Order: sequence, then structure tokens, then C-alpha cells
Amino acid sequence: LKYVKSSVKRLECLTKRNIIHIVVTPNEAAGASSNGSGPSVPKTFWEQHLQSDALWNRLQRHVDHRFNPIIRKEKSDMLLERSSSDESLLHQSYFEVTSMASVRENFERLPQQVREFASSMHKRNYPILIQPDGECGAQSEQEKEPPLILFAIKSTALNFRNRRVIRQTWGRVGWVEGQRINGSDGDVGGGYIRRVFLLGKETPEDLGVDISHLLRAESKRHRDILQWDFKDTFFNLTLKDVLFWSWFSRHCSKPLFVLKGDDDVFVNTPKLISYLQDQLEKHRSRNTLHEFMVGEVIGSALPNRVRRSKYFIPESFYRGFYPMYAGGGGVVYSGELTRRLHNISKIIHLFPIDDVYVGMCMIRLNAQPIHHPAFLTFDFTEKEEAQPCSYHTILLVHKRSPSEVVELWADLKDTREQC
Ligand SMILES: *[C@@H]1O[C@H](CO)[C@@H](O)[C@H](O)[C@H]1NC(C)=O
Ligand SMILES: *[C@@H]1O[C@H](CO)[C@@H](O)[C@H](O)[C@H]1NC(C)=O
Ligand SMILES: *[C@@H]1O[C@H](CO)[C@@H](O)[C@H](O)[C@H]1NC(C)=O
Ligand SMILES: *[C@@H]1O[C@H](CO)[C@@H](O)[C@H](O)[C@H]1NC(C)=O
Repeated sequence: LKYVKSSVKRLECLTKRNIIHIVVTPNEAAGASSNGSGPSVPKTFWEQHLQSDALWNRLQRHVDHRFNPIIRKEKSDMLLERSSSDESLLHQSYFEVTSMASVRENFERLPQQVREFASSMHKRNYPILIQPDGECGAQSEQEKEPPLILFAIKSTALNFRNRRVIRQTWGRVGWVEGQRINGSDGDVGGGYIRRVFLLGKETPEDLGVDISHLLRAESKRHRDILQWDFKDTFFNLTLKDVLFWSWFSRHCSKPLFVLKGDDDVFVNTPKLISYLQDQLEKHRSRNTLHEFMVGEVIGSALPNRVRRSKYFIPESFYRGFYPMYAGGGGVVYSGELTRRLHNISKIIHLFPIDDVYVGMCMIRLNAQPIHHPAFLTFDFTEKEEAQPCSYHTILLVHKRSPSEVVELWADLKDTREQC
């Protein structure tokens, strides 16, 4: 009963915000499957697309075949991580699979948005339009040690206000102090922060106005804009992760951690700094920083099959469970892991839901995200939020407007002593 209750609570939490996937705990799902009355949970995520004819599963199976990851797992993992195949394998498999008559037929029947995604999912070599020249994002000039965090924030061209507020509040670059615990006056430590915003392109035809000169001016002033030449749509968000990893691998050798978030999150930066300083010590001594990722982890979700949902994925495109993944509203991972994600992404076909794609890459690296209850990518319950000092206990919360962010940030400072 306890089990069911906790699942129901979680479902409520998800539906309240009108969100995404149906969450099924692994045990429930396994129970359902034991008598053939429901989907069966594969032992590994990669086993499940062995039989399916859904487009994504089929494409990925084609790639996996080359490396035979199931039969010779360790060997092929090593091979893959070192491979310099540079997406050519994905290209090849895409054209081989989509030229089959049966696949073409299926392709034509996909819903419009998914079809649009599927027809460009082999492409990722979109040129950079604007970037912080030669630098790894906005930073202060006198960094005396490697930066602790690079904030990498997904934004869209018109969200000038979100970016301005982030720069002035939780996303300020330079040295930032950690959280004082229990009003102590001692040395609380801190870390250097850097920042970059990730943008696609919205054409003047879409917007009704050409704002490219405004973006260039913004970039010149703040040096924190990274924009690529692809259409900024919901199903193209995965491109921002993949292309950011690539850019990071080239330009950012120093940052220890990346916080990848949306431009409508609120981050308790001092607390995050203190938390990551602790993690740094812990994971360094265990030598596990190369697989460090933390956020709100979602166990075994199923694709959303509701046609009018923004997250709708038809069975003809993808079949099976989603891998375990961390909610994409805000997630933190190490710089080392970022470089590994970049490498592994070259042999994993793009998937239209960005955080699920990151989960697929993690599985392939044999790494697991860590769940932390202070990452509220699905928000507080009202009762929790009303508690005094509630914002001091969290690391990140999703869905706050720019004016709320300003207020919360001021509040966090004002109540620092009593909380
Ligand atoms: C599965 O079905 C069999 C018989 O149909 C039954 O004996 C068994 O208890 C069922 N198992 C579960 C887990 O429900
Ligand atoms: C704060 O520190 C004081 C003494 O150092 C201790 O008595 C008190 O319990 C602490 N309060 C909290 C909330 O930890
Ligand atoms: C993603 O961007 C590319 C390049 O601009 C575009 O051709 C494609 O249609 C976009 N995909 C989706 C799903 O919007
Ligand atoms: C990624 O791949 C490149 C080239 O294939 C290799 O030199 C590098 O060591 C790999 N990086 C990681 C973190 O695995």
C-alpha cells in the first residue's frame, strides 16, 4: 500500500503541472508483465529495441549491430568511447534504414511534428552563429582557480528578460560564496561561476521582426550567447544538449561542473556551491567524478501516447520504456562526464525529448544519475512552499517568472541570517 501511495503521489505531482510521461515504478511494471498482461520490462534498456519495428528502435538497432554491444559489451564500449567515427555511422544507418520501403511507408504516416523531427534527425552539423569569442562563456577576468560551475541555460531569442534577470541574480559570474551554515562566521568557501545561454534560431518570418542585431549587441556586451543555425523548436531541444557538449569539449577544459537548465528556473547558487564542494571531495577520493550527474531522477517512464500532448511520441516512432533519466529543467553534471557524453552521443540517434536522450547516453556509458530531493524540476507542493525558509532548503526549482526570480533572490539574501 505504501508503495502504491507513493506512486500515486508522484503521478499527482506530475499531472498537476500538466506534465509529461506516465511514471511506472519498476516493480509494478514487472508485476504486470509476469503474466503477459502489460509491457515487459527488459533487463537492460538496450535489449528492448531488439524486436521492435518502431523507427527509432530500428535505427538504433542498426547502429548497435556494428558494434555488437550486447555480445561483446566491454570491448565495444571501449571501442565506442575511443571511436572517431564522428557521426558518419549515424548517417549511414539513417540512410540505409529509411530507404527501405516498409520504413518509408511508416515514415509517411508519422504525425507531422514527429515526421519533421525524423526527417532531420541525422543532421547535427549546424554552424554556430554567435559565440563567446574563444572563451568558455562569460567569466570574471581574475579567476584564481578552475571555475566550479558553468551555467548552461537553454533560452530562446525573445527571452531577453529571463536572461537579464538570471545575469543579475543567481547566474552572476565571478566569485560566489557558498552557503553559511547556521549563521557561522567562519570561512564558508565558494567558487567561480561562468555562464552561457544556448539558443537556436527563429527566423524573421517566424517572429515577424528581425532581432539578430539585438542578439549580436547582447553578445558583445555580455559574452554569454551561444547560438546555432537551427530552428528553435521543442523537438529540436536535444540538439542544444548535443551541440553544447561538442562546444564544451572544444572550448571548456576548466569548469568542474555544468548546470544545464531552462531559463525559467530559480537556483539557490550559494547552496549549490557548498553542495558541489562536498561532492568534489567525495567523488575525487572515490575517483567517480567521470560519471557524476545529479538531479530529479525519473525511474522508468513510458512515452506519452496522448496525441495532443506536446510530449506525444507514437508507437510507430518509439517503443519500450524510457531509460532512467534526470529531469531536464535543471541538472548538474561534471565537466569530465560532459566530454564523455559528447563522445558517446556520436553513436546514439537523436531523440525528440531532450532529457530522455541524455538518459539514453548515460545508460550507454553505464552511468547512473543520482537523485537529489532538492532539485524540484516538478516544483514544490503548496504546503512545502509555504514553510518558512523553504527556498533555503532547495537547490533548484522549475517554472519561475523573471519577476518571481528577482523577488526570490532578494528574499534569499534577506532571510539568510534567520534561516
Ligand atoms: C500468473 O498466472 C498464474 C496462472 O495463470 C498464477 O498462478 C500466478 O500467480 C500469476 N502470477 C502473478 C504474479 O500474478
Ligand atoms: C547552531 O549552532 C549552535 C551552536 O553552535 C547549536 O546549539 C544549534 O543547535 C545550531 N542550530 C542548528 C539549527 O543547527
Ligand atoms: C530542427 O531544425 C532544422 C534546421 O533548422 C529544421 O530543418 C527542422 O525542421 C527542425 N526540426 C524540428 C522538429 O522542428
Ligand atoms: C573522446 O574521444 C576522443 C577521440 O576519439 C578521445 O581522444 C577522448 O579521449 C575521448 N574522451 C573521453 C572523455 O572519453
